[in-house]
Amino acid sequence: MPGLAPGIFISASVFNNASNLRLSFVKRPGQFRLIKKTTKEDYDMARVALVTGGTRGIGAAISKSLKAAGYKVAASYAGNDAAAEKFKAETGIPVYKWDVSSFDACAAGVKQVEADIGPVDVLINNAGITKDGAFHKMTLDQWNAVINTNLGSLFNMTRQVIEGMRARKFGRVINISSINGQKGQFGQVNYSAAKAGDIGFTKALALENAKGGITVNAICPGYINTEMVQAVPKEVLEKSILPLIPVNRLGEPEEIARAVVFLAADEAGGITGSTMTVNGGQYMV
Ligand code: CAA
Repeated sequence: MPGLAPGIFISASVFNNASNLRLSFVKRPGQFRLIKKTTKEDYDMARVALVTGGTRGIGAAISKSLKAAGYKVAASYAGNDAAAEKFKAETGIPVYKWDVSSFDACAAGVKQVEADIGPVDVLINNAGITKDGAFHKMTLDQWNAVINTNLGSLFNMTRQVIEGMRARKFGRVINISSINGQKGQFGQVNYSAAKAGDIGFTKALALENAKGGITVNAICPGYINTEMVQAVPKEVLEKSILPLIPVNRLGEPEEIARAVVFLAADEAGGITGSTMTVNGGQYMV
């Protein structure tokens, strides 16, 4: 398998009570760098970010990077309690369990997050699943699960926060779509349809809210080094996927997180309705 990204990135953020400062760090092999100092008062005023599927894989990297950038972060997850507890212990980021394919569960979950840390300014619709298989063998359950989790969730989650964002005249909605929503993928009719739907959702919602200080953007990751991609049969990954990636490696979750932090910033207010590809050059649009 071609090499991985040159270096891993770990973000961390801690309060130093003596100096009343929150110190955010980034760590790479052979390097440990302070990237930001924030006072406690700044933190109390910080924007609130909610990351769905935020305790593992790409979502965990997004949660950590947003925290390191000074956001108050909440991470939702669907089922893996052990991973969520480990993530919480390591990062100090509060975790919430609900199913993003359920509108009522999203309503209750967002209400709880808002009661705990404040109104959501930045929503990252990241949660997603795969149920791959050739379409002529695909079951209705495989179809419904992927459509409801990967596309229905954008309605279920965004609907909970959009009115508040409109009232406060600020919001960032960032939808994690996929290269396979742009180009299609053998074995992923359900997933490609949902992820393409995420891009249409992004554009229409961006138009409706462009005047109100709310931006809506999509990020399309390529094949990223996560459990989801590791679940692709090894032979398929090595023969049919990796050779198509010009940078000659899988992407790293932190590369998606970096794009999220960029789009979430107050200074990114002019970027809306866009689709940012982060795919190692595999598909250029
Ligand atoms: N391209 C062309 N032909 C393929 C193929 C491919 N990628 N994969 C399988 N085939 C062929 C097989 O060789 C087989 O051909 P024969 O009948 O001539 O032998 C035929 O298609 C049927 O194959 P299977 O019976 O194995 O099909 P299946 O229903 O079991 O599905 C599969 C197999 C699930 C598609 C498997 O090949 C696979 O997992 N492919 C990878 C799919 C993928 O890329 N998923 C991405 C997951 S990561 C992700 O989604 C994150 C993201 O956003 C990028």
